[in-house]
Amino acid sequence: MTATLIDGKAFAAKVREQVAGHVTRLKEEHGITPGLAVVLVGEDPASQVYVRSKGKQTVESGMNSYEHKMDADTSEADLLAVIDQLNNDPAVHGILVQLPLPGHLNEDLIINSIAPEKDVDGFHISNVGLLGTGQKSMVPCTPLGCLMMLRDYHGSISGMNAVVIGRSNIVGKPMAQLLLNDSATVTIAHSRTKDLPGVVKQADIVVAAVGRPEMVPGDWIKEGATVIDVGINRIERDGKNKLVGDVDFESASKVAGAITPVPGGVGPMTIACLLANTVTACCRANGLAEPEGLTA
Ligand code: GUN
Repeated sequence: MTATLIDGKAFAAKVREQVAGHVTRLKEEHGITPGLAVVLVGEDPASQVYVRSKGKQTVESGMNSYEHKMDADTSEADLLAVIDQLNNDPAVHGILVQLPLPGHLNEDLIINSIAPEKDVDGFHISNVGLLGTGQKSMVPCTPLGCLMMLRDYHGSISGMNAVVIGRSNIVGKPMAQLLLNDSATVTIAHSRTKDLPGVVKQADIVVAAVGRPEMVPGDWIKEGATVIDVGINRIERDGKNKLVGDVDFESASKVAGAITPVPGGVGPMTIACLLANTVTACCRANGLAEPEGLTA
């Protein structure tokens, strides 16, 4: 391996420490405790793990955590009523509805019913529009974490060629927007892209967010490029369960200049950024200065 390892686990710990510092300041100087509400509908095992982890880290950072667990057959009206209650609760500064939702619920409708200023996921159409026009918004957590690591490693990414593989609303599209707002030259590649290897080869920065295990081999990567691997894929190898990214780490780390590992790269940054967004939302709600370095 020749690439520098971008240690997301250590970076996330630093972000959480900063968040905890701001929480202490909000409590001591203003008598305000930031609060994050997480809504989980159904019993998807992966979602349950994420929600538990979010609740734990919220409390560890000194904030209040509110969990709303609802049955898989919850009606749209009942879910909307819970969101309405949270929208109007002054103790709640951030609201996250865990995705995916059961099939009978309209995800767009639900997400767009969250008050935009409490939408710590940054998925509400108002936040998407604000981000797209370079205005102050709530920024989706995973892309925000990737941006923080890129800014930390490069200082500035202005003028660099960035290729984002994947066009999801949660990662690919907001990631591309953030890179563009930082003046990178951005290409969004996806399953229909012609000559994907050739496109990736042009990139100084590769962000892989497709959800396909080890899809990007080292020989697609330009020598010295920075590789951010968003994928978290569970595979079985040699009879053992293993987590791998969307990038073939073994071969890519021999060519890249810097790379995030899986696990321990982008993953831990997502929840750290959720906590950061909650503090940001709390400061905005109370007309206080926002913490520096925790937003885009
Ligand atoms: N499911 C997978 N990732 C996410 C996320 O970032 N936010 C929410 N709300 N659900 C998710």
